Amino acid sequence: MKKILITGGAGYIGSHTAVELWKAGMEPIILDDLSNSDPTVLDRLEEITGKRFAFYQGDCNKKSLLKSIAEKYKIEGLIHFAAFKAVGESTQQPLKYYRNNVGSLLVLLKFMEEKGIKDLVFSSSCTVYGQPEVLPVTESTPRQEAESPYGNTKKICEDILVDCVKSKMGIRVISLRYFNPVGAHPSAKIGELPLGTPNNLVPFITQVAAGIREKLTVFGDDYDTVDGSCVRDYIHVVDLAEAHVKALAYLNKQENNFYDVFNVGTGNGNSVLEVIHAFEKVSGVKLDYQVGPRRPGDVVKTWADTTKINNVLGWKAKYSLEDSMRDSWNWQKSLD
Ligand SMILES: NC(=O)c1ccc[n+]([C@@H]2O[C@H](COP(=O)([O-])OP(=O)(O)OC[C@H]3O[C@@H](n4cnc5c(N)ncnc54)[C@H](O)[C@@H]3O)[C@@H](O)[C@H]2O)c1
Repeated sequence: MKKILITGGAGYIGSHTAVELWKAGMEPIILDDLSNSDPTVLDRLEEITGKRFAFYQGDCNKKSLLKSIAEKYKIEGLIHFAAFKAVGESTQQPLKYYRNNVGSLLVLLKFMEEKGIKDLVFSSSCTVYGQPEVLPVTESTPRQEAESPYGNTKKICEDILVDCVKSKMGIRVISLRYFNPVGAHPSAKIGELPLGTPNNLVPFITQVAAGIREKLTVFGDDYDTVDGSCVRDYIHVVDLAEAHVKALAYLNKQENNFYDVFNVGTGNGNSVLEVIHAFEKVSGVKLDYQVGPRRPGDVVKTWADTTKINNVLGWKAKYSLEDSMRDSWNWQKSLD
């Protein structure tokens, strides 16, 4: 079985990807320092797959740890999820973000070079596009100056990968630019586990519905969008996880020194109010929300053109917004 090292594999997207890798006949080896995840995810993954995945608790910035994993397993590919992702915190503590998000990529690339590991899938983000002038966003839409250190780490990491491939170090890399990951595994055994106040809309919605938070604020309803609230492309996390499997399969067929980038979204934009109403419809819970002022720095609307990933990787989102809301809600209820 092909062994794939997944950094940040105990986290939200990484844990779902571990399941999809396993379903596709690959064996995930999980490396996570649990800075933003819980060790019980390993038990939950076992409940879903019937397999206890190899797990290393530690920092992927540590070369010695990576080496000891490579001594035990023949690693044939890498998916690098591990990163800090709180945009607000990154503006307060930029060094923490540059060190972890950029520093870890440097360590991993050196490790790949030394061990002759060729294939890497990197977690990038639609944040690199900022507020695009033309919608939907294609992969050739120009990247904009980052709004935050977090966003900048994604841009810098993409640039580092391009330079390494240009230098002919022999690697094959895909950057996946995720739009807005939502939902949870349909089994409700794994999902997003925000520590403290959620930064993202959907965990906030489910926590308000569960009575953990009092009220949801919609930041602005007077934008130039379908109903005045901000618009995003919400992609179910299981669909997103499958995109990593497709990306690895595609990398495997490429020559050395390969780099490409793909948007991962549904191709549809939904407004914040549409998300709220979809949630209310599937859950039967009336949400307590209020409209507040616009939030500085918010992208007004963005959604993906998915033609490239549909045609080249043969991947297409299958889950609807309602599916995402149902699975997020079932996950939230399972936490009670
Ligand atoms: N969730 C989103 O909205 C979103 C959108 C675009 C891109 N991304 C990117 O996708 C990736 C995964 O995001 P997620 O939502 O699953 O986040 P997450 O926080 O749930 O998962 C990241 C995991 O990495 C671990 N980690 C962090 N630093 C580490 C280190 N140095 N060594 C080992 N483990 C470490 C954390 O403990 C966590 O389990 C990140 O790179 C993130 O920037 C996420």
